[in-house]
Amino acid sequence: MRVDILTLFPSMFKGPFDESIIKRAQKRGILEIHLHNLREFAYDKHRMVDDVPYGGGGGMVMKVEPLFRAVESIRNEIKSSPKTILLSPQGEPFTQKKAKELAKEKYLLLICGHYEGVDERVKQHLIDEEISLGDYVLTGGELAAMVVVDVTVRMLPGVLGCKDSLREDSFYEGLLDYPQYTRPAEFRGWKVPGVLLSGNHQAIEKWRREMRIKTTFEKRPDLLGQKELTLEERGLLEKIKQREN
Ligand SMILES: C[S@@+](CC[C@H](N)C(=O)[O-])C[C@H]1O[C@@H](n2cnc3c(N)ncnc32)[C@H](O)[C@@H]1O
Repeated sequence: MRVDILTLFPSMFKGPFDESIIKRAQKRGILEIHLHNLREFAYDKHRMVDDVPYGGGGGMVMKVEPLFRAVESIRNEIKSSPKTILLSPQGEPFTQKKAKELAKEKYLLLICGHYEGVDERVKQHLIDEEISLGDYVLTGGELAAMVVVDVTVRMLPGVLGCKDSLREDSFYEGLLDYPQYTRPAEFRGWKVPGVLLSGNHQAIEKWRREMRIKTTFEKRPDLLGQKELTLEERGLLEKIKQREN
């Protein structure tokens, strides 16, 4: 997958993209990240990328021309029209489901807004969609773009060492993950559940399936309403509800 990111602050991406799984994905040739400084597409004397809002009001608005020039130049370079996404608090909330969808794309182009946001004509005529990280306002789209790349890239085949760890992740199949433990088996009197030490793989699998339902029921019952539960999962849920009553 190739990801192009348009930003006023390319150096913000150093660090997050040079470590861990994202770094490995790039090394393995699964991921290519291209950072573009929007200022390079502002051709006036002062390289202005923002201007005062029509109608007055505080703050500055990102200008339409540099954004169009930048996106068109990237489209020409790759001879394709990548899915073009504006990070925006007004967009569709970002979810694991959305990341699964994005992971199927060959190219992604992410636009990071700043200041009071971008000229509305960018939203109307340049991008395919807006994605929001949540119902709050960030200073800029950079942190949101990092999150979108991180979550999406984990889904690409060959990025994670173990395929199962992806499937068991919270949200991947509409449930939260089961509780995880590592050594020591006892710490300050708190013991790891005996079944995990039993070596009985069937029993461990069964315990984990039950724990995923239990954790989801206790922490995010709304997710259970959105998921089609299997017969076994429905049985487990009933058992957990009875136990907790
Ligand atoms: C200060 S915000 C502008 C907010 C805008 N005035 C509004 O209320 O809709 C600047 C930029 O940060 C990014 N941003 C802010 N909050 C975000 C969120 N929740 N999700 C994704 N991007 C966000 C967007 O790119 C936005 O253009």
